[in-house]
Amino acid sequence: MFTTDTTNKFKDLETPFYYYDMGILRQTLEACTNASAKYGFHVHYAMKANFNPKVLDMIQSFGVGADCVSGNEVKAAIDHGFDKGKVVFAGVGKSDKEINFALDADIFCFNVESVQELHIINDLAKAKNKKANVAIRINPNVDAHTHHFITTGLDENKFGVNIWQLPDVANALRECPNLQFLGIHFHIGSQITDMEVYKSLCTRINEMQDWFEDHGFPVKVLNTGGGLGVDYHNPDTNGMADFESYFEVFKNFLNVKPGQEVHFELGRAMVAQSGSLISRVLYVKNGQKKNFLILDAGMTELIRPMLYQAYHDIENLSQESKPSIKYDVVGPICESTDCFRKDVDLPESFRGDLIAIRTAGAYAEVMASGYNLRDKVQSVYSA
Ligand code: LLP
Repeated sequence: MFTTDTTNKFKDLETPFYYYDMGILRQTLEACTNASAKYGFHVHYAMKANFNPKVLDMIQSFGVGADCVSGNEVKAAIDHGFDKGKVVFAGVGKSDKEINFALDADIFCFNVESVQELHIINDLAKAKNKKANVAIRINPNVDAHTHHFITTGLDENKFGVNIWQLPDVANALRECPNLQFLGIHFHIGSQITDMEVYKSLCTRINEMQDWFEDHGFPVKVLNTGGGLGVDYHNPDTNGMADFESYFEVFKNFLNVKPGQEVHFELGRAMVAQSGSLISRVLYVKNGQKKNFLILDAGMTELIRPMLYQAYHDIENLSQESKPSIKYDVVGPICESTDCFRKDVDLPESFRGDLIAIRTAGAYAEVMASGYNLRDKVQSVYSA
C-alpha cells in the first residue's frame, strides 16, 4: 500500500520505473536474519533475484553471504563489500574465464554441477597452484510443486548430478588433488510455499550426507539452496515470507552433525515485496468484448507474467473508487503476449493514471530487456 505522500511524489516522475521501499526491504532482512540466527544457520543472498546497487548495499549491510551464478555476479558481490569468504559460485555452465576469475578472487566455494566440471576446476586451479573448495550440487529428484518452468530438482532438469552418478563424483574427487571437498548442495526450485516439500528435501539431504561420509568424504557444509516463496496475491496483508516456519523445518528435520554448517541461498523471499513497477496508462481502449489498459511498461520491464504466467497484483494509484470494470492490462510491445493479466478488476481508469504492479522486487528489474530498443528502466527508492 502506498501512502498519499508517496503517490504524490510519483506524479512528477517519468514512468515506468521500479520503486523500492527500503523500509520493507530492511524489515524483511531483519526477519530473515533473526529467524536464521536462532539456529546458527548461514544465509547467502541469491544475487540473481536483484542486483540493483542500492538493494545490494542494503543486503550486504546485514552481513549475509552471496550466491552467484556468473563471474560478473561474483565481481559485483565483492565490489559491493560482500565478504569473499562467504561468496559461492553456482551454475550449470561456468566458463573457464569465470572459473579463473573466481579462483583469483579466492571465493568460499564452487557449487559444482557435473563430473566434467570437477575436472575442469581442478585443472584451472592446478595451473594457478591453488586448491578450490567445492560442494557437489545433487539433483535430489524432489518435486517442488511449483511452476514447471522454475522447478529444478527433478531428474529431467539439467541441474546438478543425479544420484546414480555419485560413484563417478567420488572417483573424480579422489583423482583431483587441487579440489577440496566441502559439502553438498541442493536447490529444487523457486516460489515454494508448501513446507512439506522442504521436509522431503531434508530426508534426501540426510541420505546423501550419509552416502558421502560412508565413502570417506566428511561433509562440512549442507547447502539447502533457496526457493522460499512469497504471497503475490496479498502483498499488503501478508507481506513477509514465512522465514520462521521455513528455518524451523530444517532445524527439525535436517540431521546436522557436530561441526557442520547449514547454508541457505534465498533470493525472492528477501527482496520481492520491497519492489513495485510503477507505470502510467497511455491509452484506454474500450472494445465490444474487451477493455484494454495500455501501459507505458511492458514485458521489456517485467517479463514474469508473460514467461511463467505469474500473477502480480495490479493497482490504480490515481483512482479511489471501487473496482467496477474488467480490463486486460497490456504493455506497448509489439507482441500479443505482452499482457500483464486479463480481466483485472479496476476502477474506471484514464490516460495518465498511475498503475502499480506489486511484488516486483525479485526477478523483475534484473530480467528487463532492451527489446524494441526501449529505454533502460529507471529506479526510485524510498528513504
Ligand atoms: N540457488 C540456486 C542454485 C538457484 O538456482 C536459485 C534460483 C536460488 C538459489 C534462489 O532461489 P529463490 O530463493 O529466489 O527462489 N526467474 C524465476 C525464478 C528463477 C529462479 C532461479 N534460481 C522467476 O521469476 O520466478
